[in-house]
Order: sequence, then C-alpha cells, then structure tokens
Amino acid sequence: MIIENKKGDKYLLCDFFSYIKDQPSESVDLIIADPPYFKIKGDFDFVWKDHNEYLDFCRKWLLECKRVLKNTGTLILWGSVGERQITFARLAIMIEDENIFYRRNWITQANTRGIGVKTNYMSAREDFLFLVKDENNFTFNVPYKEEESTRKDLGKNGKPRKNKYKRVSNVWSDITEASQSSLERSNHPTIKAIKLCDRLIQTHSNEGDNILIPFGGSGSEFISSVKLNRNVVATEISPEYFNDAREKKIKFLNNIYKLEKEKKIIE
Ligand SMILES: C[S@@+](CC[C@H](N)C(=O)[O-])C[C@H]1O[C@@H](n2cnc3c(N)ncnc32)[C@H](O)[C@@H]1O
Repeated sequence: MIIENKKGDKYLLCDFFSYIKDQPSESVDLIIADPPYFKIKGDFDFVWKDHNEYLDFCRKWLLECKRVLKNTGTLILWGSVGERQITFARLAIMIEDENIFYRRNWITQANTRGIGVKTNYMSAREDFLFLVKDENNFTFNVPYKEEESTRKDLGKNGKPRKNKYKRVSNVWSDITEASQSSLERSNHPTIKAIKLCDRLIQTHSNEGDNILIPFGGSGSEFISSVKLNRNVVATEISPEYFNDAREKKIKFLNNIYKLEKEKKIIE
C-alpha cells in the first residue's frame, strides 16, 4: 500500500529492509532516521531481548543507509537518553568505533514538557546525531532562530554582523514538541513536530534533493519534505501508523498546503 503524489513522493507501508535492498547505491542526499529507541516509548520499542540485539538491528539498517547515501550525504539519527538504558550512547559509540559515519555533532532538543518523578530531574530531552559520510563535503545551510540577536559587537572581519538573527546551537529549545492540540497530533506515541523536521531538512538539504525516511511513523518528516519541495520516500511497517499518517497527515498537507489536487492514494 502506498500514498503517492504526482511528483513521485512515496509513503510506503512496508519493512524498510524489504524496500532498501533494491535501491541503487549513492542515490540519496539526506536520511532522517527516527528509529525505535529501545525500551523508551511505543510498542515498537520493546521487541529486542537486550541492547546487543537492538544494536545488531541498528548496524544492519545503518549500513544499508550508508550504501544508498551519496558521498556528500547526511544522516540524522534521533534517539533518547532514558533513565535506565543508555543505548543511544552505545549506538553513537558503535557508529564511531566501526567507522560507519563521521559524527559532526550531538544535538539536544529540549521539550517544554517532560516525564517527572520526585527523586530525579524531569526527563525532557531528545537527542540526535548529525552524521556524514565525508567529513569535508556535505550540505549545511547555516540555521538561524526566529529570535533577533542582541549582540552589538562586530564580526570577525571588523564589520557589523550581516545576519540579525541568533544562530542555532547544539541545544535546541526554541521549537516546541507536538502537543495534544497541535496539527500534527495523532495516535502515534512519538510524533516529531513539523517545525523540527523543517529545520533539519532546510539545514541539511536543498530543494530537489532526495530524502529517505526509513521509519515513517505518523509522517511528520514526510510531510515536511513534501512541503519543502524535496523528493521523498518513507517506509513504515505498521498498518496502524501508516493509516495514521494517511488520515492525519495527508489532511494536514491538504488543509495547510493546498495539495488536494496532487493527492493520489493507491491501494
Ligand atoms: C520513533 S517512531 C517514528 C515517529 C515519526 N518520527 C513521527 O514523527 O511520527 C519509529 C517508527 O518506526 C516503525 N518501524 C519499526 N521497525 C520498522 C521497519 N523495519 N521498517 C519500517 N518501519 C519500522 C515503527 O512502527 C514506528 O512507527
């Protein structure tokens, strides 16, 4: 089953591994991977017996991603540092030790709400790795916040700074998570805010680039890619979440971006 528009963007109901094996090498500019995190949230997070089994699963899909990514390509890898398991750190170390990708940065997204217990700091963070194949050749369109900079000093060249907005650092706190009332909300337990996806896509790719979303979920990254004129393919293994994406997100696209005429659903 697929959701497709005239331009050829596809949201596929299938296992990522069955899709990727037939795809050509070095054909994708940007991959945004928001995989199951291992024992944090959602039924899909609890299917591995231990973290070694989970890391084996990750190695397998990461190597396929490496194969299809162009040499100038980028992979964004979402994860989370939970209270008991520190699997995301193990994953980052595995990527480094096995030279799967070069890590440019580890970014923390601070959410406005979190999970609180009385004996600990509230857990309100998500994290992602900015990974590239070639550390000297990749797309990075410098991102700025919507907030104006208060700096009065001159730039390095002794002239007034050109951009009046604040630079985005590796701690993000200016984009709020998808809330119960936000447009991207659906039944999926780990929805990413469209604004968050917009920033990632605008920073790490250009119009007309090819984007791959291995773990489509409720479709946030897919919608953002379509909206920003990239070519995108997403895969999602669960029929429930696929339908979620179709019903909620296609509606989102139709309502907000008036793509009604472009929409075509094939079953
Ligand atoms: C963390 S969620 C992604 C959420 C997404 N970023 C969003 O905003 O809705 C991970 C998703 O990966 C899907 N998934 C797990 N294994 C998969 C596989 N082998 N192929 C495709 N999708 C898979 C799960 O069903 C789940 O919806």
